[in-house]
Amino acid sequence: MSERILIVDDSDGTRDSLGSILADDGHRHHGVASGAEALIELRRQSYDLVFLDLVLPDADGLELLEDILNEDPGLPVIVISGRGNIDLAVRATRLGAYDFLEKPLSLERVALTAKHALDRVRLSRKLEQLSDRLDSTTELVGESPSMRRLRSELARAANSDGRILLLGENGTGKELAAHYAHRLSSRSDGPFVEVNCAAIPEELIESELFGHMKGSFTGASADRAGRFEQADGGTLFLDEIADMSIKTQAKVLRALQEQRFERVGGGAPIQVDVRVIAATNKDLEAEIREGHFREDLYFRLAVLPIQIPPLRDRREDIPKLAEHFSTLFARRQGRRPKHLSSEVKERLIAYPWPGNVRELKNLVERLMIMVPGDEITVRDLPAQMGESAVDPLRSLLEQSHLSLREARAAFEKELIERRLDHLSGNVSKTAQSLELERSHLYRKIKAYGIEVQRGQGV
Ligand SMILES: Nc1ncnc2c1ncn2[C@@H]1O[C@H](COP(=O)(O)OP(=O)(O)OP(=O)(O)O)[C@@H](O)[C@H]1O
Ligand SMILES: [Mg+2]
Repeated sequence: MSERILIVDDSDGTRDSLGSILADDGHRHHGVASGAEALIELRRQSYDLVFLDLVLPDADGLELLEDILNEDPGLPVIVISGRGNIDLAVRATRLGAYDFLEKPLSLERVALTAKHALDRVRLSRKLEQLSDRLDSTTELVGESPSMRRLRSELARAANSDGRILLLGENGTGKELAAHYAHRLSSRSDGPFVEVNCAAIPEELIESELFGHMKGSFTGASADRAGRFEQADGGTLFLDEIADMSIKTQAKVLRALQEQRFERVGGGAPIQVDVRVIAATNKDLEAEIREGHFREDLYFRLAVLPIQIPPLRDRREDIPKLAEHFSTLFARRQGRRPKHLSSEVKERLIAYPWPGNVRELKNLVERLMIMVPGDEITVRDLPAQMGESAVDPLRSLLEQSHLSLREARAAFEKELIERRLDHLSGNVSKTAQSLELERSHLYRKIKAYGIEVQRGQGV
């Protein structure tokens, strides 16, 4: 993709010669002759590099430079100074100009300086993308049957271009699932743009989604692209859709039906190529019955409805998730992950997690900060996870999808682990106490992947 370069210089000759050097290198460029035009142009569309003449008829070059950098701090600006104006150029670089060139311009210097500046732009964009990805790529952790099913459903849905509706309680991972589907889709190189419908004031949401034209309402000081436009070629994630007003719902419905829309305040209809993923933690069917949500919009959005189960229905994922978060925070804080004692894991498994994965993540983060040692013990847990909450049998019974065979195996494993713990990891004594052949017990220990830790327990 060729970069866009703005040339600000009142001399026709300089604009032309700069322009032809840049065009030879395959860059798109646009020239303006005054400071005022430069600012208008920079607000109208985005540029990757600016050549700025420091001596302009209508503006103080240094002030203009500051204005430009205030609008877009990452934008490289190469200043051009006349002979004898070097001190001005040096002051400009102190203010943040990328580099300066002296008139008369040398072809090689121009081409090389532009190349370096654009390389830097590309590099810092790449870095931004990567760090975005690192944060959001955190995988969808969990090996419970329902998590496996969720991952495969998301992968299949991502493959198509159909609209996905993610349903699930607070903190179950709807946003993460949306990122996951985007990454697996053919649009993964395109943008992932998010709109939280609950967080945007009602009177601004339309402009947020569809953009606006300058002057269309108080505060609309320039034309602005909306989220739909920003998501062109990628994915638009509409979060908390039940919080859209009926009026906004009508506009969104129309945009989805007609595949195009207009900015607030008019302008030509805009067509974009966007895959929409929507999410809500509300019961949309109830919202429809009560007249708060349009049924026709529901059908448009819910081509591929995907339910994310609450954490209490997939308790076997809890220890894995806790370890995952412990490693994550340890890495962020530059420390070692903390070990969770088996009793801690039991209590975490037994707790009902009304705030789902987010609550678990927050708890682990807190523990990582607050607990000084390398091991987290039950004493470190909040009171509501106290002894009375521990009931592995109950948590086993609450796992709604287990077959009798799976439940029996889970119980057996639990029992063997505890007995082993209790007998300090002595396999012979444990076999005796369970009235099993020692070799038989060994096979079970192996089959269940139980770690025998000698010398532990009472
Ligand atoms: N399966 C998972 N594996 C790893 N991290 C997860 C998983 N599920 C959720 N998380 C993490 O838990 C936190 C909450 O998830 P997310 O924000 O996606 O939930 P949500 O359903 O959008 O919640 P809300 O309804 O409150 O907006 C996030 O930090 C997310 O990264
Ligand atoms: Mg969310």
